[in-house]
Amino acid sequence: GKSQLKINGTHYDTHPEFTNISGTVLSLSDRALHLKAAHPIGILRKQIEDKLNSTSDSYCVYNNFRPVVTVEENFDSLGFPSDHPGRSKSDTYYVNDKHLFRTHTSAHEMECFGNIKGFTTRESPRAPTDKPGFLISADVYRRDEIDRTHYPVFHQMEGARVWKRSQEPVPQGTEPLHIQQLRFDLQTLEEQLHQENTNLVVHDDISLEQNPKQDYMSDLEVSLCSQHLKRSIELLVAQVFNKKLASMRAAGSNTQLQVRWIKAYFPWTAPSWEIEVFWQGEWLELCGCGLVREQVLLNAGYKPDNQIGWAFGLGLDRIAMLLFEVPDIRLFWTMDDRFHSQFHEGQITKFKPYSKYPGTIRDVAFWLPQDQRQKAIHENDLMEIVREKAGDLVESVKLVDKFTHPKTNKKSLCYRINYQSMDRNLTNDEINQIQENVREELVNKYGVTLR
Ligand code: PHE
Repeated sequence: GKSQLKINGTHYDTHPEFTNISGTVLSLSDRALHLKAAHPIGILRKQIEDKLNSTSDSYCVYNNFRPVVTVEENFDSLGFPSDHPGRSKSDTYYVNDKHLFRTHTSAHEMECFGNIKGFTTRESPRAPTDKPGFLISADVYRRDEIDRTHYPVFHQMEGARVWKRSQEPVPQGTEPLHIQQLRFDLQTLEEQLHQENTNLVVHDDISLEQNPKQDYMSDLEVSLCSQHLKRSIELLVAQVFNKKLASMRAAGSNTQLQVRWIKAYFPWTAPSWEIEVFWQGEWLELCGCGLVREQVLLNAGYKPDNQIGWAFGLGLDRIAMLLFEVPDIRLFWTMDDRFHSQFHEGQITKFKPYSKYPGTIRDVAFWLPQDQRQKAIHENDLMEIVREKAGDLVESVKLVDKFTHPKTNKKSLCYRINYQSMDRNLTNDEINQIQENVREELVNKYGVTLR
């Protein structure tokens, strides 16, 4: 019979070439940290939802989407070209050739746009709603390096908002109804932003010349819609960071909150931007966004030329790490009550480290196989082996040496694995055993020659 994977109660056939989900990652897919009311990720998620819905209650909230989606939902419906690197097996966890662990919450845009009443012409949306916008929070999955800020699972919040174009004639000298509506919505938002936040300094000086708009929207629509998008995100950034900044000011530092808008590219929005916040001496990337491409709306069952809208995708983990002062992203996943007992629904509090357990370093060095028939090893494949064999007992993995032998032309790599548990002391025997398992797997799977 065919081999199968059971994920969130559903059975999926595996695929000999595509399936690349390890047991470690599989076991994380049931955790739903964003739903835990007293977990930093859950606390932050709720705070942002409440803030965005405080202006006009326009957003329908979806927090229960399962992590397995189709290739169609994650990539095709959003216009990803067939050779986009995000689709590769070294970056994405595939269940089989048609299903994968979503790499972003945008995978649910098509469905959620399709739920908005009066916009879609779909026969029977699963969950019709009157609200002209939505917020989706969920765990997302990417194969990646191992260090204090990278984990194969993290969390995003997707937001989107649409306005219907009015075709109705209006008295001369007045603007179409949807333009009036947009102006009204924008003004409401600006008033709220003004009331709540006096400290935000916004840098926004990129020209639209290299960030082209779509033909189906007028200049005025682009201008109003993108202002509404930017002010909405600034509102949530101000809300999230201002309080933190205030408590830091009280402790002696005196800085303004600075954000900047930079140009970006996403296959399903145009124009597109990213917002960055200046935090502890660095520009930190927070959120990608843009005006939704018409094709995405058509894919959701909308009529051409009938509406305009925006979307954003916000990463929650980095923000939660800095708000709650959590030094290592693995802590979010610990089962240790010394972590969880520190956090309370609705409260942003500073994490107090309970103990720092010593780390131990082990290097693994190997020659890459010269045999062309051997499957080439990608750095993320090595990371995946370490995750599989060591779970959360590794703090980081770094390439420390790389050279090509001048005579034989053979390539050698050396990676340094930093073993360190968040919860307890590790024994040497235990680490040696894991290290041995990692080495063996590298040989078995990728034919390397250990040095
Ligand atoms: N999904 C994008 C990411 O993961 C963010 C995004 C969402 C960008 C919506 C534009 C619109 O980076």
